[in-house]
Amino acid sequence: MATISEQATRVESLASSGIQSIPKEYIRLQEELTGIGNDIFEEEKQQEGPQVPTIDLKGINFANPEVRKKCREELINAAKSWGVMHLVNHGIPDDLIARVKKVGEAFFNQPIQEKEKYANDQASGQIQGYGSKLANSASGQLEWVDYFFHLIYPEDKRDLSIWPKTPSDYIGATSEYARQLRGLATTVLSVLSLGLGLEEGRLEKEVGGLEELLLQMKINYYPKCPQPELALGVEAHTDVSSLTFILHNMVPGLQLFYEGKWVTAKCVPDSILMHIGDTIEILSNGKYKSILHRGVVNKEKVRISWAVFCEPPREKIILQPISEVVTEAEPALFHPRTFGQHIEHKLFRKAQDDLLSKKKS
Ligand SMILES: [Fe+2]
Repeated sequence: MATISEQATRVESLASSGIQSIPKEYIRLQEELTGIGNDIFEEEKQQEGPQVPTIDLKGINFANPEVRKKCREELINAAKSWGVMHLVNHGIPDDLIARVKKVGEAFFNQPIQEKEKYANDQASGQIQGYGSKLANSASGQLEWVDYFFHLIYPEDKRDLSIWPKTPSDYIGATSEYARQLRGLATTVLSVLSLGLGLEEGRLEKEVGGLEELLLQMKINYYPKCPQPELALGVEAHTDVSSLTFILHNMVPGLQLFYEGKWVTAKCVPDSILMHIGDTIEILSNGKYKSILHRGVVNKEKVRISWAVFCEPPREKIILQPISEVVTEAEPALFHPRTFGQHIEHKLFRKAQDDLLSKKKS
């Protein structure tokens, strides 16, 4: 357990303290705030301009080859053009998803003292549990979010001792969701493999297969923010994962950087939002895109999202463009690296960028 002095400030306690202006650590740099309007709810309703594609997976395993082909092509095209999509008819029952959301909300609806019993301790490497970002970047900037982070699959790699004991259905609902989501990940990876002209099990194997691919769940809790035009729930980034699957409580906040502009994702009922992460971008030699995105916050409603990152093991696998997709005309765009090295490289780049922007400001 961390001592109080080492612990990050809980954004929830700041938000409920009645402050009218946010502490300076939460005020983002001007260049990070481009495209942030005053009303995310209005932006979510916008019908003009490019929209995150919605992919209906109903026909993905249909016996009729024409239906199957059309469905698969839509997914492949969305992965190439956007790298993010709303999946509908994904096969995970609505009532299971409702249970997952209910237990996550119930955990966060407890008093902060109860949640602190699950506090992580980032300084000593205990990253699973309840947490908030520590000001460890060069610019010292923080995000307007608290979270609960834990590994949910494979089952033998879980540490159930740190999972919430309240509510009582937390473990049952989250475990079943993890099993079903793992199946969906296999289906998606198969289609993406076929889209590269590879046999269907190839990407699954490249990211570690059933035994090594790690599903990490992060429940993000974004409290209401008195100055949403100055803050970010999550700063702009691309996901390092292979795939990321996201549920949310129908409060808008996700923005995608598409063709030079920030696009607000719609809240599509009964959908799972899916990102292609850097890992698949690297393996596919850039054919599938890992899109830049960020999370914005608002004054009116708490936003909660449930992100599951499907990550290869840190050191066991070398990530590089699959040889079959590299040609003379399309040479490898990425140097070989482990997943751990990829993360380190990104953190290093970010630290350098932060230092540069600090000098500028
Ligand atoms: Fe992300």
